[in-house]
Amino acid sequence: MNFDAITAARLPELLCAMPKAELHMHIEGSLEPELIFALAKRNKVRLRYESVEALRAAYAFTDLQSFLDIYYAGASVLQQPQDFYDMAWAYFQRAKADNVVHAEIFFDPQTHTARKVSMRTVITGLHRACVDAQSQLGISSSLILCFLRHLSEDEAFETFEEAFPFRDKFIGVGLDSSERGHPPEKFERVFKRAAQLGFKLVAHAGEEGPPAYIWSALDVLHAQRIDHGVQAVHDAALMSRLAQERVPLTVCPLSNQKLCVFPDLADHNLGHMLDQGLCVMLNSDDPAYFGGYLNENFLQTFAALPLNAVHAYQLACNSFEASFVSEAQKQVWRGQLDECFKQFGC
Ligand code: ADE
Ligand code: ZN
Repeated sequence: MNFDAITAARLPELLCAMPKAELHMHIEGSLEPELIFALAKRNKVRLRYESVEALRAAYAFTDLQSFLDIYYAGASVLQQPQDFYDMAWAYFQRAKADNVVHAEIFFDPQTHTARKVSMRTVITGLHRACVDAQSQLGISSSLILCFLRHLSEDEAFETFEEAFPFRDKFIGVGLDSSERGHPPEKFERVFKRAAQLGFKLVAHAGEEGPPAYIWSALDVLHAQRIDHGVQAVHDAALMSRLAQERVPLTVCPLSNQKLCVFPDLADHNLGHMLDQGLCVMLNSDDPAYFGGYLNENFLQTFAALPLNAVHAYQLACNSFEASFVSEAQKQVWRGQLDECFKQFGC
């Protein structure tokens, strides 16, 4: 492949056009303020904010917790299966515009079951949108159930039990919410149970928390992907292991910027991790809150860092490599990626 054919001027166009998978996106984080207000009206929920503009103005975060407080409040408007469908369908339309061919989507059932919204409501609404995304947009997808790590492991077990009747509608379990003070070890038994039942395992680790949390996500939870993982750069032995084992890290640059994990996008360590041979790829995390969907993450990150067409190719390839699909399917997507680069003269 002749990557030199891509001039800096054409790079943004290529970033947008290339096919890609998204592996780290919380569906509740795709709830745009306009939809929050529309659903609040539909379900007669009172919001703390007067208007879409006032809500958006509150999106000035100082760390993960300051975001989570607003994010959980926003999710309170979701009540009926149709609400979950509408939220996910809106995401899929945005994903289509960004040439996302595959999405593995997180959902936080405890945020909803705590408000007496049933597991059936959550999963059936989301699943119907996934089915329609395949048939109407040609996007394949799967759901990953995340346990909230600020709650107890017993509560995670209860949630897992409640979701079990719908086990054919999600492929794996994850771990999210407030990281500091809630190490992966807290969820060792529930992850073990999920593994025994054949579920895929992922966990947020090393977003704000220390490299030790990445070690234990790997060695105690046996996570197959690390969500974020950007703090790994502070531990040389961990970096070697991640590179050697090609452990995927689902990196989310705009999220890291908005939650002040890095002072500025120009300080992000994505380029360093790529150059160290890590299997990293880009993701939008909570796009409605962090100022952009997947292509916006690509555009802003490439504008801020010294990254080129080789990096773009690696990121797209890594997104396919790290996805939970068959080798044959990955091969099809790699072929589409090569075709796209060829159309740009590579
Ligand atoms: N839930 C939604 N977004 C999250 C993030 N960036 N970190 C942890 N939990 C989350
Ligand atoms: Zn996340």
